Amino acid sequence: MRTQVVIIGSGPAGLLLGQLLHTWGIDNVIVERKDRDYILGRIRAGVLEQGAVAQMDEVGAGARLHREGLVHHGIEIAFEGKRHRIDMHGATGGKTVTVYGQTEVTHDLMEARAAAGRVTIYDADQVTPQGFDGDAPRVSYVKDGVTHEIACDYIAGCDGFHGVSRQSVPAAALHEFERVYPFGWLGLLSDTPPVSPELIYTRHERGFSLCSMRSKTRSRYYVQCRLDDDVARWSDDMFWDELRRRLDPAAAETLVTGASLEKSIAPLRSFVAEPLRFGRLFLAGDAAHIVPPTGAKGLNLAASDVHYLAQGLREAYADKSQAGLDAYSARALARVWKAERFSWWMTTMLHNFPDTDDFTARIQLAELNYVVESQAATASLSENYVGLPY
Ligand code: APR
Ligand code: PHB
Repeated sequence: MRTQVVIIGSGPAGLLLGQLLHTWGIDNVIVERKDRDYILGRIRAGVLEQGAVAQMDEVGAGARLHREGLVHHGIEIAFEGKRHRIDMHGATGGKTVTVYGQTEVTHDLMEARAAAGRVTIYDADQVTPQGFDGDAPRVSYVKDGVTHEIACDYIAGCDGFHGVSRQSVPAAALHEFERVYPFGWLGLLSDTPPVSPELIYTRHERGFSLCSMRSKTRSRYYVQCRLDDDVARWSDDMFWDELRRRLDPAAAETLVTGASLEKSIAPLRSFVAEPLRFGRLFLAGDAAHIVPPTGAKGLNLAASDVHYLAQGLREAYADKSQAGLDAYSARALARVWKAERFSWWMTTMLHNFPDTDDFTARIQLAELNYVVESQAATASLSENYVGLPY
């Protein structure tokens, strides 16, 4: 088989790239190691910047997002028992975010791809990018015991943090930057109305908590937990009790609890691999970088990488120019590092670290007070949260 671009991984990054290339008539095949149902069963975050929403529209997959997504004009930050509203819309000259689960984004992109008739190979084992340092790149994989090979012009590594693409690059060619945080997030999904119409990020001595949502009838809540914690140890009641303890009194009072649909623990990590290009192989999304979820940036960074990469590929085919591809790594990384900084800062300001002493706690509170009292600080948080320009 031969195609123009082989995309490894059918997460949001791979699917979005595939649809953008499709709309410009660039042939592409996605090779994915899991099956469709497995991918649609993953619960991930769900706050979209306007840039990501615009991309969904551009590929014709935005209709349901506009129908069912919740447009948010602000968030709330709580500490010392009080909530403070951050008016992001007011602070950014009218920008908003849209709350719409990543699972739904993935679903809509899969439907769009099926309608476009582009090929996705699911359940592909031993996916291996090859020859990307020369002029004849190809991707091999094993399906039902048979080895296949797809020849192509370019390979896009959109296969997430544990994917094969980054691992295929010689270690000496990569520079990895990493910070692992000494705690995790325990998340619970429930068919209960959200405690408040906007997200609440809470700093508390017992640990951070977040009240989020998927719809007006489905909530997503998180509490900071130990890194070595076991989700089996947490009954639903224990979770709700712990969340309630960390909320401000008004939110604790109105919290509606119910049976969990899903409960899981995620570690928090900051990670960037540089560069994002190795000959004819390009990394995008979680394959290249991870942010802790506190800034809601993971999916949005995948979208901005894909924006730059798709533009580069379009120029390569339509204009016979390599300029966009040559610039891809530097362009994408400039935006990635700003989101890394923001996510690290939000995490540091809001969590209880094992070594948080009295001094550090006072500094956290001073910073939070400054953020909610100063127009400049509110504007800074807001412009990062709604998303820096592409
Ligand atoms: N071969 C083929 N496919 C692979 C391989 C492999 N060796 N390894 C991983 N994959 C697939 C995974 O099964 C997954 O479907 O690549 C896909 C990567 O998808 P994501 O992990 O969702 O990554 P990405 O598309 O970059 O999306 C970033 O996802 O993890 C969240 O917070 C993150 O919201 C962000 C978004
Ligand atoms: C979520 O809804 O899962 C979510 C929202 C905002 C975050 C992280 C996760 O910062």
